[in-house]
Amino acid sequence: MVTAVYPGSFDPATYGHLDIIRRASVSFDRVVVGVLHNSAKSPLFSVEERVNILEKAAKNIPNVVIKPFDGLSVNFAKENGAQVIVRGLRAVTDFEYELQMAQTNRVLAPDIDTVFLTTSLEYAYVSSTIMKEVARFDGDLSKFAPPEIIQVLRMKMQKNR
Ligand code: PNS
Repeated sequence: MVTAVYPGSFDPATYGHLDIIRRASVSFDRVVVGVLHNSAKSPLFSVEERVNILEKAAKNIPNVVIKPFDGLSVNFAKENGAQVIVRGLRAVTDFEYELQMAQTNRVLAPDIDTVFLTTSLEYAYVSSTIMKEVARFDGDLSKFAPPEIIQVLRMKMQKNR
């Protein structure tokens, strides 16, 4: 039984994240998506909101659970009995940071491996940051995330105006 954790900020989740979750759920017996509580990025959504959004969006994938976490990803992996950390790679610009993070995680926990899934081409440009930027100016979000996520994002933007 191989468990993978997929840690991230998910502020909020996009089609890109959901694609990685779906594909990880095929390769691994159990996928625990970890939503980082204390992100240095000052998230738009609270951790509870981000967990809630992902739970709804991933509800049809049976071997996936969504959990909040704080601290190191490797500790989250250990707490969940995971042997693997999954991350998505969109472009070469992601690579340097992701490689450094994977190597750090390997030094911290040599028995946990990082596995990269290359983002599907149709989502290569998608990020939560870009999606929020488009939302801020009322642009079309239909290619970024499913309708239920777009709805909560629009509501949050309106509330913050
Ligand atoms: O979605 P993101 O913001 O790219 O995810 C980054 C994340 C959460 C995977 C990364 O910041 C992380 O693992 N944070 C927890 C702290 C940690 O383990 N740091 C050591 C690795 S450099």
